[in-house]
Amino acid sequence: MKVSYKVPATTANLGPGFDCLGMALPLYNIVTIEETVMPSTGIEVNVMNDVENSDILELDSIPEDKDNIVLKAVETLYNLVGQEANELKININTNIPIARGLGSSASVIVGGLMCANELLGFPADEDALLSVATEVEGHPDNVVPAVVGGVVMSSLEDDGSIVYRKLNWPEEWHITVCVPDFELATNVSRSVLPQMVSMEDAVFNSKRLAMLVNALDNKDEKLIKLALDDRLHQPYREKLIPGFKEIRNALKHEDNVLGTVISGAGPSLLIVSQKNNTELIRNTVTDIWKDFNINFEIKSLNIEKNGAKKVD
Ligand code: HSE
Repeated sequence: MKVSYKVPATTANLGPGFDCLGMALPLYNIVTIEETVMPSTGIEVNVMNDVENSDILELDSIPEDKDNIVLKAVETLYNLVGQEANELKININTNIPIARGLGSSASVIVGGLMCANELLGFPADEDALLSVATEVEGHPDNVVPAVVGGVVMSSLEDDGSIVYRKLNWPEEWHITVCVPDFELATNVSRSVLPQMVSMEDAVFNSKRLAMLVNALDNKDEKLIKLALDDRLHQPYREKLIPGFKEIRNALKHEDNVLGTVISGAGPSLLIVSQKNNTELIRNTVTDIWKDFNINFEIKSLNIEKNGAKKVD
C-alpha cells in the first residue's frame, strides 16, 4: 500500500503571536509512504524536489537516516499504537524552502503522520495527530495550520493536548514573502531568546495580540499597523537577519503596507499589505539587502485555507 499527502507551508508568530499563531501558505511538500513487500528491507528515506538550480531548496541539510524528522514522526505514531515501523519507503518531495521560517519541517512531519495514520487504519483522530505532531516539532504554531489550513491560534496545554481556533483573515489583504539565500535553523534562532522577559514587554505583547485578533476580525487597517509589533522574539532575532530592521522601517512609510514581520523563526520576512505590492516591496528589499550581499526570492501569496490533503 502506498499513500501520499500534500501539506502546505506555514508562517508562524505573525509578529506578537510567538509560539501560538500561524497561517497556512500556498506552497507545498508532498510526503509519500509505501509499505514495501520485501521483509527486512528496513526503512528507506528519500528527499527530492522537482526544481533544478534553486538556491533555497538546497536538500543537503535534510538527513535521510534515523535523524530524519519524518521518520521520527512516523515511528512515534507506530509506537503509540503498539506497532513497529518496518519495511517502509518514505519519499519527501520538497517545494517549501528549507530552514527559512516557512514551516518546511512541520509540513513533512504532518505529511508523514497523515500517511502513517492511514497505513495503520486511522487509529489517531485529529486531536491525537496534532499532539504527536507538536511533540515532534516542539510547538504547535506551524503544525496546526499545516493540518487544518487558514490562520490559527493554537495552544499546547499541560496535558499535551492542543486547543486551537481558526481566526479570520481579510480576503483583500495580501502577503508577500521574501526568502533570503541563507538558512537559519530554528534552534539557533531560539537560542538567542531570553529565558525571562520584563512585565512591561509581556504586557506589550498581550496588547498587540488582542489588537491583532480584533484587527483580523474587523479588517481594521489602522489597528493592524500597531498590532504586528512584538517584543518577545523579533528584537532578539534582528541580529540574525541583517537588514530586517531597515526593511521594516523603510516599508512602514509605504501607504499600502500594513506591516513587516519575521516569518516563523526566520530568516524569511513576511509583509502584509492592502493590495499586491510586490514590485514596490521587491525594490525596497533589493536596495537594502544588496548592501548586506543578500540575494532573495520574492513570493506573492494569499492565505491557504485548506490544510493537508490526500493525493490520489
Ligand atoms: N514559533 C516558533 C519560533 C516557530 O518562532 O521559534 C518556528 O518554528
